[in-house]
Amino acid sequence: MSKVYINNHPLVQHKISILRDKNTGTNEFRSLVGEIAMLMGYEALNDLPTEKVEVETPLETCMTEVISGRKMAIVPILRAGLGMVDGILNLVPASKVGHIGLYRDEETHTPVEYYCKLPNPIEERIIVVTDPMLATGGSAIDAISQIKKHGGKKIKFMCIIAAPEGLKALEEAHPDVQIYVGHLDRQLNSDAYICPGLGDAGDRIFGTK
Ligand code: PRP
Ligand code: URA
Repeated sequence: MSKVYINNHPLVQHKISILRDKNTGTNEFRSLVGEIAMLMGYEALNDLPTEKVEVETPLETCMTEVISGRKMAIVPILRAGLGMVDGILNLVPASKVGHIGLYRDEETHTPVEYYCKLPNPIEERIIVVTDPMLATGGSAIDAISQIKKHGGKKIKFMCIIAAPEGLKALEEAHPDVQIYVGHLDRQLNSDAYICPGLGDAGDRIFGTK
């Protein structure tokens, strides 16, 4: 089964609480999504490969570690996943960025694909898929299937809030993927929205409705 990491850091939980508040405006919401992505990224990337390089300090020469191979790709699921990209780019600025466009059909709640552009070659890269919300899991499952079709192998998925239903579905569909969750919420409602959740993440990040 997938490895699932549920975050319990007080800083992340504090920022998620502000996101949930319906009175939090677009500007603050967008900044917080980026900050949470960076904090979660710090944990999610703790197994990045490193290599030794020689560096001359003011005192002597030493062998010291750097991230090896600049081989990371961040792949946001449009739209809301875009809000998490800059936070992770702050950590690994050399990452390439792909995009997968999906929206949920309002009636069926199943994902509709409209865009896919991934950095080449994708096979060797560590791929971090971002989306603040894992609800039914349909969008994440579909996005990861598309990445695998293009040859992606080492895939991590990061979300800020997950529903138990979506987490279970994603683990079953893609048992090889590491899943990082900011907070595991109670359940989906009849419209497949996460409760208590934070509402529609895309609308709150971009100020649409
Ligand atoms: C939201 C969210 C996820 C998806 C989660 O996107 O950002 O992509 O729903 O739901 P699921 O797990 O049931 O698939 P939405 O379809 O609203 O598109 P948007 O980001 O363009 O607003
Ligand atoms: N998408 C969102 O943005 N929020 C939810 O609660 C469910 C799907």
